[in-house]
Amino acid sequence: MTQYEAVSADEVHSRSGAIRLHGPEGFEGMRRAGRAAAEVLDTLVPHVVPGVTTQEIDDIVYREMRARGGVPATLGYRGFTGSSCLSINHVVCHGIPGDRVLKDGDIVNIDVTILLDGWHGDTSRMFLVGDVGVKARRLVDVTYDCLMLGIEQARPGNRLGDIAHAIQTYAEKHRYGVVRDFCGHGVGRVFHDAPEVIHAGRPGTGPELKPGMFFTIEPMINIGKPAVKVLDDGWTAVTRDRTLSAQFEHSVGITEDGCEIFTKSPGGFDKPPYA
Ligand code: MF3
Ligand code: CO
Ligand code: CO
Repeated sequence: MTQYEAVSADEVHSRSGAIRLHGPEGFEGMRRAGRAAAEVLDTLVPHVVPGVTTQEIDDIVYREMRARGGVPATLGYRGFTGSSCLSINHVVCHGIPGDRVLKDGDIVNIDVTILLDGWHGDTSRMFLVGDVGVKARRLVDVTYDCLMLGIEQARPGNRLGDIAHAIQTYAEKHRYGVVRDFCGHGVGRVFHDAPEVIHAGRPGTGPELKPGMFFTIEPMINIGKPAVKVLDDGWTAVTRDRTLSAQFEHSVGITEDGCEIFTKSPGGFDKPPYA
């Protein structure tokens, strides 16, 4: 018997590879969702300390999203069990919240996606747990700068390859590895939409950026080689060489003359240290 999978018009659109162009209503929706996601990360600042478990942080994320009228888009997404992803040290991304206790010297990426009034606000930041060593802090600094250098290239007329090239050039200048296995993505009413936003590539290549395109930029940068592997839980991605990995993510919209960052921290906690 043939099984027919129910697909929405959105999914058909997404699979065709076409990149959606949004109008003012989209910008307004993403502004609200992006701000809410960034606020949720802001609320975590005093809680990301030695002794707390990743589950306790995830519980706060859930509460803070509901308090803003949204829901975590990750909860139940392809079977994921968290309201956030918490990725510690050599974990590259998609760490599952659980009983792991944060300890002094850890670096942790917290990635949240809120679905608010039909729009997805997707953002992540690094947090420093207690006293963090200089090598790890330098990785976190460079990774943040990689994201912002990529965002600088996000304007009409440029191509996705220009964003990728800016990120790759800066990371490799510091002899870090840029993860290839995971990319940024179109975002909006659909969580993971076209296009794929690569973080390493050649300038002048890939789709041309146009006003109204919404996507994430979310470089994952390793102290060592780019290679990752996914653990048996089917989610947790780690560096193959077990070196530290860092990531920051913003959701952005292309405007007439550049881009708007939807997920900037209202509290000014864009980059650690937050104290
Ligand atoms: N927020 C992640 C991203 O940046 C996606 C997480 S999907 C999950 O695209 F299922 F792992 F939560
Ligand atoms: Co994302
Ligand atoms: Co994310």
